Amino acid sequence: MLSPNTPIKFLVTEAGAALLSRYGVSATTVSVAPGRVNLIGEHIDYCDGFVLPFAIERAVVIAAALNGTSEVRVATSFDTEGAVIPLGAPQEISEPKWSNYLRGVIEGFRLRGIEVPGFDAFIVSSLPVGAGLSSSAALECAMATLLEGFTETSLGTREKALLAQKAEHDFAGVPCGIMDQFASAFGKEDQLILIDCLTGGTEMVPFADPSLTILVSNTKVSHELSDGGYAARRKSTEDGLAAIGKPSWRDVTLADLEGAAGKMDEVTFRRGRHVVGEIARTIAAAQALKSRFFTSLGGLMYASHDSLRDDFEVSCPELDHLVKTASGLEGVIGARMTGGGFGGSTVTLCQADKAEAIAAFLAASYEAEFGFAPEIFATRPAEGARLV
Ligand code: GLA
Repeated sequence: MLSPNTPIKFLVTEAGAALLSRYGVSATTVSVAPGRVNLIGEHIDYCDGFVLPFAIERAVVIAAALNGTSEVRVATSFDTEGAVIPLGAPQEISEPKWSNYLRGVIEGFRLRGIEVPGFDAFIVSSLPVGAGLSSSAALECAMATLLEGFTETSLGTREKALLAQKAEHDFAGVPCGIMDQFASAFGKEDQLILIDCLTGGTEMVPFADPSLTILVSNTKVSHELSDGGYAARRKSTEDGLAAIGKPSWRDVTLADLEGAAGKMDEVTFRRGRHVVGEIARTIAAAQALKSRFFTSLGGLMYASHDSLRDDFEVSCPELDHLVKTASGLEGVIGARMTGGGFGGSTVTLCQADKAEAIAAFLAASYEAEFGFAPEIFATRPAEGARLV
């Protein structure tokens, strides 16, 4: 069964009501920033590759009002106790953990010489946490957008995404690439975003055909490996590139990699093989989508999943099961894991009129195998971070 997406306007109402009840003030400024799904181009944003994500119809909403003090008081639906963040001095990592994304964004404004005034805020979200759908990037982008509103500045979309990424690096300790924050900031209805991670350039790729849709299946597992696993993968790709001796993975061919195989261990070699293959697959997938060559596109998605499972080793049995099951169903064009992996979600491109039946089959099969149900929802590409 498809799980519904709460309309953004309901989230806005909910956040406003919660702000009033928690802090006794009515919202004057409300920001929204969506999560993302990546259609293809996984674990190559930090390798100067191409990625093809889009913003989804699930988002973080922050309702807020100036409080005339020099601190931010902020609570969320899962932590109504909340946090107090003092302003006027460099931000530091502190408790509660989720507040660090906000502290990192405030620090980004401070470093740009933009003074942030004190305010009260309440955060609600329709994005599951730990599902590989970039709830943290959404939180960062929602906060940055809110601060733009309060400080009457406009950072520009690219600059805002980079500020949010730096918050993730410095305040959450995750050495992520630019994909998630770019997708949340640049999202547009009915468009995918082809990001050139070497130049930071973006090209919008239309996805407006109403006969197609995208299913997101959240395994609801998050394997512990995720902590060190991401940084370790990134390090392997850096080691591989150093052994090859070229400045960027964009200049590396399979022949270059094979020629340098003797200078790296077998694992580093396989990580590199994923990078080289995935860059080529993503370019081909964007082309296939533009030309409506859906069979090719589907094949590229399955090949991406296989490579992430076997060469990059970031999949898990739950993700593999969903992809394999989807691949046998009528109406499915392609499926793969999406996001960092080690759990999280799969993305399934399918015919819209079959989506309900596909979701029902996937859910039943998953539950029979693992003993609990996944959460499956349909989404179309949605609008990026904004004030409402
Ligand atoms: C996480 C990171 C992104 C990207 C993906 C894998 O979502 O935040 O930058 O590396 O993993 O493609």
